[in-house]
Amino acid sequence: MSGTDTTQRERVRLYATGSCEGFDKLRDSIASHPEIELVGSSTDVASGAGALAGGHLQAVLHATRSATFPADEIESIRSHTQAPILLVASSGSAGLLEQALDADVSDVLLLPQLVENVVFAIRKSTRGGRRHADSNGGGRHGRIVTVFSPKGGTGKTVTATNLATACAKFEGRKTLLLDLDLQFGDAAIMMGVEPEKTIYDLVVAPGELDSEKLAGYTTKHACGLSVLPAPLRPEDAELVTEAKLGRLLEVARESFDVIVVDTSPFFHGPMLATLDRTDELLLLCSLDVPTLKNLRLALQTLDLLSFPKSRVKIVLNRSNSKVGMKPNEVEGALGMKVRFEVPSDRAVPLAVNRGNPVVLAEESADVSRAIKSMAKEMFRAPKEEAAGKKRRIIPAFSKA
Ligand SMILES: Nc1ncnc2c1ncn2[C@@H]1O[C@H](COP(=O)(O)OP(=O)(O)OP(=O)(O)O)[C@@H](O)[C@H]1O
Ligand SMILES: [Mg+2]
Repeated sequence: MSGTDTTQRERVRLYATGSCEGFDKLRDSIASHPEIELVGSSTDVASGAGALAGGHLQAVLHATRSATFPADEIESIRSHTQAPILLVASSGSAGLLEQALDADVSDVLLLPQLVENVVFAIRKSTRGGRRHADSNGGGRHGRIVTVFSPKGGTGKTVTATNLATACAKFEGRKTLLLDLDLQFGDAAIMMGVEPEKTIYDLVVAPGELDSEKLAGYTTKHACGLSVLPAPLRPEDAELVTEAKLGRLLEVARESFDVIVVDTSPFFHGPMLATLDRTDELLLLCSLDVPTLKNLRLALQTLDLLSFPKSRVKIVLNRSNSKVGMKPNEVEGALGMKVRFEVPSDRAVPLAVNRGNPVVLAEESADVSRAIKSMAKEMFRAPKEEAAGKKRRIIPAFSKA
């Protein structure tokens, strides 16, 4: 495989913010560069909040007019995304680099610059992993698989609990089931575990979060799965902020091979923070018109958030229900292929009521086979690279 053939490389998903002299021209050149996918741009950070938070960005290029280090601007970007930030300025003051390093900015580029230099710096920044990624020294980079549907009762929790169980038990992966249905989560009940601690206890606990601390707050199921349940009381949900959740996911990635996230049917802040880190989004659908209508809207929202379509997989639950609609009609309505079909089975509600996942209770049932093959398939996808990161200031290009 050739490592130098740029046409073979995946394009870097970049968002551009801010402005300075010469930045418009640079941004236009970058937008048409074959190695970059410019997801969007905005002159102020606030207008780009949606794409910054949910765009699954690999880097942010921020231009500043400030002669000194623009700490507020960088902090504002950081409140939306953990993606590497490259700072562009038309003039640099002494101490700019040091301050940039302290603020975890990947590179500082003084204009004018050759486009190739900027693209090189952008690509290099993506090899450093996300912010905090090397702070705990863990070697893993677990996959985050989010199970979502904009309609309640479609089978999110049944899918998330069984998928996570299948990953732990049948794929032998170190797996975390994270219940992000923060107000009314029932993943723990479906797993039959009685949690001593929940995500609420974890986020209100004092001190910095690391892998060891996370392990102290999860509940272990006999199949090997770790469960981090939703808060016990709905009013505690709001303490699980985007920032806390972002950190939690980064730490979870370092200690688990896969993190399966169960969700509520809303695009709230914690959900956006999760989307920003999601490797695979399983969108649950069923054979009914209201669910399809909401799913189309959800796909449009994901598009507005610049969430990569390649990471979305449609799961048709209760696919064999005789309700006057066929799976191919679902594909027609959504404009997307159904990736997995999970049949309806009486064994599911029976298993739910016993607090024992159906993949364990009825291993060979069709529904269990479908979910087990979903788990198997998940590990065929390539992982993102995570190498060390080096920062530097890149001086302006001079024709002289
Ligand atoms: N494939 C299936 N076959 C039979 N019953 C199913 C299937 N999938 C889900 N169910 C039933 O549907 C009910 C709702 O499923 P589940 O709780 O997983 O939905 P949800 O999307 O998580 O709902 P909510 O939005 O309320 O969290 C479950 O109690 C389960 O018994
Ligand atoms: Mg649920």
